[in-house]
Amino acid sequence: MKTSELSQKLLVWYDVAGRDLPWRHKGGAHPDPYVVLVSEIMLQQTTVKTVIPFFARFMQRFPTVEDLAAAPVEEVYQYWQGLGYYSRARSLHAAAQTIADEYGSRFPDTKEEVLKLKGIGPYTAASFLALAFNRPETVVDGNVMRIICRMFHYTEPLPDIMKKIREKAALLTSIERPADYASAIMDLGAEVCTPRRPRCDVCPWRQACLSAGKDDVADIPHRVKTTKKEISGNVYVITDNRGYVFIRRRTEKGLLSGLYEFPWSEKTMFPSAQDTGVSVTHIFTHIRLTLRIYRLQSDNFSATGCFIPPQKLKDYPSSTLMKKVYAAVRPLEILSDFPQNTQ
Ligand code: ADE
Repeated sequence: MKTSELSQKLLVWYDVAGRDLPWRHKGGAHPDPYVVLVSEIMLQQTTVKTVIPFFARFMQRFPTVEDLAAAPVEEVYQYWQGLGYYSRARSLHAAAQTIADEYGSRFPDTKEEVLKLKGIGPYTAASFLALAFNRPETVVDGNVMRIICRMFHYTEPLPDIMKKIREKAALLTSIERPADYASAIMDLGAEVCTPRRPRCDVCPWRQACLSAGKDDVADIPHRVKTTKKEISGNVYVITDNRGYVFIRRRTEKGLLSGLYEFPWSEKTMFPSAQDTGVSVTHIFTHIRLTLRIYRLQSDNFSATGCFIPPQKLKDYPSSTLMKKVYAAVRPLEILSDFPQNTQ
């Protein structure tokens, strides 16, 4: 079957079965590139289901790129709380400022310019240009990789065959309806060509697919398991004589920058602190981090940060890692007035 026939089949399927999503415009480019930018950044590491309510709240508070650019970054963090990977919020805010200040709020529409925006790599640039400007860009995310590997029965480990995958994905991309095609292939991966139980019987590409209905379809693509680096450290719940708790704001660049937290380190920070016997583990993309919780009561503690009443913790944007720590601390009853839910 010709590639143009395949993309046509996918589009026909999409017109009937494609998902209705709050950031989606069926039938060509989305009229508002800002909607595409916000949603694509949110969807970078987060599932559609999780993103939907966050996207609604975010758009209500920051309906235009100017509103976002004018807001303090702390407020953007507030609206990102629970989505994780906060560097995305920081980058989105910076990108909005660039668009507002340098482009007079008109969105750039060339790859070169879009790639210069903070937080936009080749994947997001491609999906943004396809969805917002109907450019024939090829989106290659995990879903697309899976679909292509199955279509051509590529059983080699993924990293070795990325070039082949990209080439095939580009050949299949519709040049007539790139925006709808980008949405359609994402939907095919999310709804039909799913990782574990693909629904080959309803797939618009089943006649051409070399893996459809085969026993090994769920094992494709073949992924090499990467082991995560194990890191451990200590986290400190420091209280003063009022029962207030010490928090600091991370300033160094990186994943958790700008967020509030109890002090923690891979090294011992306060040798006199008491071990609570409780640990929390959090998995980042490449790291498995375990923090042991220690407590310290100190009336003359001084470091960069501040003591706050524990019930105010929820007002300070924090990472999922720290929320796990807060949740583990609550039953220890070190802190009175500890908020029930720090989400
Ligand atoms: N994943 C990344 N971008 C997406 C989009 N626009 N719709 C659904 N899933 C996505």
